[in-house]
Amino acid sequence: LSHAAAGVDNRQVIAMGSLIEEEFLARALNAFDSNDKAMEVYRAFKKIFSVAMSVMVDSYLHAIMRGMEGIGMNERLVARIRKVAIRRMIEEARSVLPLIDWSDSLSVGLSVIDEQHKKLVEILNRLHDGSVSGKGNEQLKGILLELVQYTVDHFATEEKYFEEHNYPDTAAHKEAHAALVKQVAAFNDAFQAGDAKLSGDLFKFLRSWLNGHIRGTDKLYGPYLYEQGVR
Ligand SMILES: [Fe+2]
Repeated sequence: LSHAAAGVDNRQVIAMGSLIEEEFLARALNAFDSNDKAMEVYRAFKKIFSVAMSVMVDSYLHAIMRGMEGIGMNERLVARIRKVAIRRMIEEARSVLPLIDWSDSLSVGLSVIDEQHKKLVEILNRLHDGSVSGKGNEQLKGILLELVQYTVDHFATEEKYFEEHNYPDTAAHKEAHAALVKQVAAFNDAFQAGDAKLSGDLFKFLRSWLNGHIRGTDKLYGPYLYEQGVR
C-alpha cells in the first residue's frame, strides 16, 4: 500500500505492516510530511480497505483470539474491539487529511463561480490544517475571518448575476445566503471573542455548510445562468 502510493522502500512497508492494525494507518500517514502524500495513502487505503485490511485484521484477531480464549474473552467481544479499532484508524486518517477534496462533482458549470468555490474550499481546508497542526489562535482567527469575508463577497457575486439575468429564484436564493452568512458569522464572533473552539463537530458543520451551498442551491442556478451566457 504505502510502497505503491508513496514510493517508500520495502523495509519500511514491512515494518509498518508489522504494527498492530489500530496503529498501522496512523503511523503510515505520519511518515509523510505532506498532506498530498498522506492523501494518496488514504485513497489507496480506502481502495483496498475491504480486502487487504480485513485480511490483516482477521489474522491479527485470530492471533489475539487464541490468546484471549485463555482469559475467557468471547468472539463477540473481540468483534466489537475490531470495530472500534477500525473506526479509530479512520478518525486518525481524517484528522490529517484535507477537509474537502475539490472534485468535478462540485462544479456548477460556470468557471467564474467554480473558481470562487475552489477558493472557499481552499480557505476552509487551510483553517482545518491550521487547527489540526496546532497553529496559534491568532492565526486561526485570521483565517476564519478570511472565510467569512470571502463568503460575503462570493454571495454578492452570485446575487449580482441573479439580478443581471433575472434569475427567477433570486429571492429564495438570497434568503438562503443570508441564513448561511448568519450561521458562520455567529460562530466567527464567538471564536474571535474566545467563546468558541474549533472542534471536529465544527468542521463537520462547515463542511456540510459549504457542500450544502454548492450542491444544494448553486447547482440549481448553474444551468439557468449558463443559458444566459455566463461562463
Ligand atoms: Fe456559491
